[in-house]
Parts: sequence; structure tokens; C-alpha cells
Amino acid sequence: MINLKVKLAGVEFENPVMTASGTFGFGREYGEYFDLNELGAICVKGLTLEPREGNPPPRIAETPAGILNSVGLQNPGVKMFLKSELPQLKEVTRAKIIANMAGNTIEEYCEMASILSESSVDMLEMNISCPNVAHGGAAFGSNPDMVFEITSRVRAAAKKPLIVKLSPNVTDITEVALAAEQGGADALSLINTLLGMAIDIKTRRPILKRNVGGLSGPAVKPVAVRMVWQAANAVRIPVIGMGGIASWEDAVEFLLAGAKMVSVGCGMFREPALPVTVKNGIAAYMEKNNFQSVEELSGAVQVY
Ligand code: FUM
Repeated sequence: MINLKVKLAGVEFENPVMTASGTFGFGREYGEYFDLNELGAICVKGLTLEPREGNPPPRIAETPAGILNSVGLQNPGVKMFLKSELPQLKEVTRAKIIANMAGNTIEEYCEMASILSESSVDMLEMNISCPNVAHGGAAFGSNPDMVFEITSRVRAAAKKPLIVKLSPNVTDITEVALAAEQGGADALSLINTLLGMAIDIKTRRPILKRNVGGLSGPAVKPVAVRMVWQAANAVRIPVIGMGGIASWEDAVEFLLAGAKMVSVGCGMFREPALPVTVKNGIAAYMEKNNFQSVEELSGAVQVY
């Protein structure tokens, strides 16, 4: 009998598959496609203290094997999330709920962490890697000293386990991973999107109104697997791997690289029930290859 259960920072998940923030909204729409109890966890759209409308359109561009987004953290704000979204989500699933939070300042992150700690969410994910906002976001996540400072301060304000979501837009991912660990992060998640640009050659203008945006999708997967492998080998805390997962085989790669859990993101835009396919595929792979637990599979890559 294989065991799909995973424990991260004291929180037990039924299986290692979750949804990536920003690709799943608050779960309402996807409940029409599959039973949300199939998921190990749901990570909700990035929340801010006040509601945000996000960036002006166009803010999505399709690219070969990927998607560029410049959403700009559109969300109803933390208070509305707690009032309207979290209760409905709790009604329809037993999956663990992770609140992704973003802010303009360290103080805002701390305030959000303390508000969300009083709620029934299971974990907090600190988003210091959004490339689509003028303040906060990736500006915090690309400097190791800043990552250490914000992680320490938010850790002190939070009463729930804290995941730090890292940006791939850095020279050395292990420096920021270690800074987050030293700051007190309970887990890391990576990668957020890679900064990219697409230009319409007829108008000679960028396709995105904000000129640049975050690239995700299969195009980024090898970069993500490499960074997960490097980070997982540098830190002792668990790593959640994501970036371009479009099949169960992709997810197994991330687990072999050292991730303890995986997040499915924009692959769901093409195949809404992809997380279920991924979960079943991981289970079948474990059975066929004699892995009893996800813990055993995690990091089992045999490097040269
Ligand atoms: O623009 C956005 O809302 C994206 C957020 C993120 O990548 O964290």
C-alpha cells in the first residue's frame, strides 16, 4: 500500500498535489470540473490588505508553450476573502487552505499575517515574488538581506506555518532560499513566474499594457526543476515545487528533484481536472517503482 500523505510544518495533507496561487481563484469555478476533496491543498489568489483591481488590460499574452501575465494582484482584499470566499471554500472541501498574501510594505505583510492567523486557513504563503506590481512583490524577493528581514518580521507576526514563495528572477536561488530559511520560514515554494516580454510586430508595441509580465507554463519547467533541485539541496525546510506542470510525469520530476509537494498552475487552463490526473499518476508511478511514501520519492533523483 502506498502512502500519498505528506506532512509539512506540522500540517498533514492527504496527498502532495495543490493548486498554485493565482490560477485557481477561490475555487468556485473549478468545483464544476472535479471534486475539490481530491486536492492536498488549495492555494488561493494573492490577497492584499485592501481590494485591488489589478493592472489595465491587455494583461495576458500567449507565448509558445507558455503564458505571460500581468494581472497585478487583482483580488477582493483580505476582509472580503474571510467573509465570503473562505467560508464557501471550507464548505466544499476538506483540502487544506493556504492563503497567499502580498503587500506594499513589510508592515502590510505583518498585518495580513496577523489577520489571517486568526482565521481557519491552514498555512500562509508570503508572496515576495510577484513581478507585476510597482511596490513590494519581487522587489522584496530578489535581495537576500531583504528576504531575511521580511521573513523574520512576518514570522514573528504569524501564528500559522509560513511558506515563502521565491522568485526565479535572481542569479543564485540558494542565496534567497537560505535567507528565507534563516529568517524562520517553515517551507519554501518555487518558482513564481519568470519576467518576460512579448512585442506585436505590426503595432511595434508590447502586447502587455505594463510592457513586461510573468512567464509560466511548460516553457519554464526545466528552469523550475533546476531551481527546486538547487533549493532543496541547500535548505533543511520542505520545498513545494511548481512551474509548468502539465502532466503527472512533470510532477514526478519535481518530486525527484527534492520537492515534498507540487503545485499545478496554468496547466489547469487547458485541462481543468489536471490536479486529479497528476495525483493519480504520482500514485501509479510510486506503485510501479516501489516507493511506499512521497517522503521516499522526494529527492530520489540519482545525479551524475
Ligand atoms: O500579477 C499577478 O497577480 C501575479 C502574481 C504573482 O505572480 O505572484
